[in-house]
Formats: sequence, C-alpha cells, structure tokens
Amino acid sequence: MKILVAGGTGGIGQALIAEILQEIPDAEVHATFFRSVPDINLQDDSVHWHPSDLTDAESVKKLSDLVGPVDWVINAVGMLHTLTQMPEKSITQVNPEFFLKTVEANVLPTLLLARYFMDAFKGSDSARFVALSARVGSISDNRLGGWYSYRASKAALNMILKTLSIEWQRKLPKGCVVAIHPGTVDTRLSEPFQKNVPSDKLFSPRVSAGQILHVIRRLNPDQSGQFLAFDGSVIDW
Ligand SMILES: NC(=O)c1ccc[n+]([C@@H]2O[C@H](COP(=O)([O-])OP(=O)(O)OC[C@H]3O[C@@H](n4cnc5c(N)ncnc54)[C@H](OP(=O)(O)O)[C@@H]3O)[C@@H](O)[C@H]2O)c1
Repeated sequence: MKILVAGGTGGIGQALIAEILQEIPDAEVHATFFRSVPDINLQDDSVHWHPSDLTDAESVKKLSDLVGPVDWVINAVGMLHTLTQMPEKSITQVNPEFFLKTVEANVLPTLLLARYFMDAFKGSDSARFVALSARVGSISDNRLGGWYSYRASKAALNMILKTLSIEWQRKLPKGCVVAIHPGTVDTRLSEPFQKNVPSDKLFSPRVSAGQILHVIRRLNPDQSGQFLAFDGSVIDW
C-alpha cells in the first residue's frame, strides 16, 4: 500500500500523515512540502518527503517519477487568504491577481496530480484519488455569498474531479475519485475566521483527519464522482 499526501505540511495534511502512520502502519507514505519545513515529528524514516510546487507541471512530473506506482493520492493543498488579502466580502473587493492566485493554488495541483499520476495507479486494486475541497464550493449550497475567489476555485476543483471520475470509469474501473469537505478545521487557513464558529463545529486537525481517513478507507468505485463531507454524507454539487 503506497500513499501520497500532497501538502503534507498543512494543518490537515500533517494530521492525515500522522493518522495514516497510526492506522495503516505497513503503508509506504510519501508527502510533499512547498514553503514550510515538515513537522519534526514526521521527519523520521516513516515518511518520504518531496519538495514540490504542485502548480508547476515539471515539478509534479518529477514527483510522479520519484514516487512510482501508487494506491492513494490525497491532495491537501489549498489557500483561502494571503498575508495581504482576505477573501472578498463584496464584489467591490475583487482583485484579479488574488483571484488567479487562489485558482492556481486550489485547482492546478489536483489537475496536475491527476495528469501525472494516472499511469501510477494502473497496478492498484484500490486506487483512490481524493482532493480536499470545501462545502463553500457547492453552488447549490451557496446561501451566504461572498468569498468569490475561493468559492469559484473550489467549484472549479469539483468540476475537475467529477470530469476525472467519468474518464477513469473506463481507464481505472477499480478506482474512486472524490472531493472531501474536511469540516471547519483549526489551521492557518481558517484561523482568521474562527471567532464566529461554535466550538463544537471547529475540529482539531486530528479529528478531521481521522474522519477523512475513515471515509477514504470505506470508498468503493460506485462512489466515484461524489462530493462527500468528513462524515461520509453526500454534498450536492
Ligand atoms: N481548514 C479548514 O477549515 C478547511 C475547510 C474547508 C476546506 N479546507 C481545505 O482543506 C485543504 C487543507 O487546508 P488546511 O487548513 O490544512 O490549510 P493549510 O494549513 O494552510 O495548508 C495548506 C497546504 O497547502 C500547501 N501549498 C500551498 N500552495 C502550494 C503549492 N503551490 N505547491 C505545493 N503545496 C502548496 C502548503 O504547503 P507549505 O506549507 O509547504 O507552503 C500547505 O501544506 C485546503 O484545500 C483547504 O481549502 C480547509
């Protein structure tokens, strides 16, 4: 069993690695980092770390060559805000540069991982391609508005996963492609927006990762093309 966690330095990515090491101890775990240094507790021989800019095709191709055949790819890369810009509350705050940066970080890694890892799944009986999306990327669930760039980027990500699931029905019939909403999780990404979140709705990364892993372990090919929440329930696109 070989598993790649893309974005292994993020709050949820780190917790996913820790959870996988505990729950699937014989798995060979690979993980990527970009700007951050991997957590010191995950720097022993149990994890193979790869520096990768997952928005860069050459970098993803090189990663695929290094990792080789794989069973699961879990993409935990993403961005909601930068040091200088928060998500838009109004259309008047839209900034093209921020929009493009958000789409780049939230969409390209999944597109490129699918592109360069498809052949790496071919020998696997349990191929799983999972990307962390967000409920706010659901068009039918959009009741509050705002967050134009992030919502649009996650809606685009969702469309790519749905489209990929259709192509892989033929090419990887034993595989399963899903988008997973991790819940609201206490990480760098959500930190500026936590004050109005009730404490029972704000998960620790470990709790969210445990639930995500539980969902992934129970996936089957019939579920390919679904958008799932951390508890396994289906979210409408
Ligand atoms: N936290 C939440 O409440 C929440 C809710 C809904 C959905 N999500 C989704 O869950 C996912 C993980 O979120 P998180 O809260 O764990 O975020 P986080 O702590 O900010 O982690 C983000 C990760 O993305 C990586 N990354 C960013 N740009 C990259 C690039 N170009 N190439 C490679 N890696 C890149 C970062 O790498 P470096 O640190 O090495 O730069 C980091 O590992 C995201 O897709 C997010 O949208 C989170």
